[in-house]
Amino acid sequence: MTISNENDLICLKEVGRIVANALEAMGKALEPGMTTSELDQIGRRLLETAGARSAPELAYAFPGATCISVNEEIAHGIPGARRIERGDLVNIDVSAEKSGFFADTGASFAVPPVPRSIERLCRDGRRAMWTGLRQVGAGKPIAGIGQAIGAFARKNGYTLVKNLASHGVGLSLHEEPTEIATWPDASERRIISDGLVFTVEPFLSFGAEWAEDGDDDPWTLYSSPEAPTVQYEHTVIATRNGPLVLTLPG
Ligand code: CO
Ligand code: CO
Repeated sequence: MTISNENDLICLKEVGRIVANALEAMGKALEPGMTTSELDQIGRRLLETAGARSAPELAYAFPGATCISVNEEIAHGIPGARRIERGDLVNIDVSAEKSGFFADTGASFAVPPVPRSIERLCRDGRRAMWTGLRQVGAGKPIAGIGQAIGAFARKNGYTLVKNLASHGVGLSLHEEPTEIATWPDASERRIISDGLVFTVEPFLSFGAEWAEDGDDDPWTLYSSPEAPTVQYEHTVIATRNGPLVLTLPG
């Protein structure tokens, strides 16, 4: 969506804060021995308490309030009986609707103890996201986002998953503009309009290039080739003064 009035802004900020707070609380609650379903329940309660509804449930009848993806799973993992173990890399993606407005955020968490390299991957995944966010502004090319993230990944020796794009959000979970690449895309010609609302969510990896379907369920996506992969996601509004990030806790 494109922001057109003060009410849009107020409602987006509210739902943005709600998903950010849920994600933060889930990250803090994450510990070895708990199941991904137990972790999801924490998120569900926080969304409900705040008067919000899970966006993947609402939009796609996803079987969970949040998406929780562990290790070889990199996106759209279904919360269930899987127990979190020491050394796991856990991605939590929280999106929700309140009063007709949607926001989307996500982060990967390493469950200690993990090798230095995994700590570095997490830190750099967050940096990759901010590298993209800094390219957001009214009148700027959408392609600048993927160019900047691509340069960051190349310089630091990482790969990017190239079939999980960022997307417009606001009045639904996924809307125009769709297929915003977080990797260099020479065919991208679109310009970011003033007030445009969308996500920036690169998937940074030690080798994965693609997300692939599995055989177990119709949702979970796996790294291919299999390699540690992280995702960090914010919802942002493009303004004349640059990015206004909506999904910050507060
Ligand atoms: Co998300
Ligand atoms: Co998203």
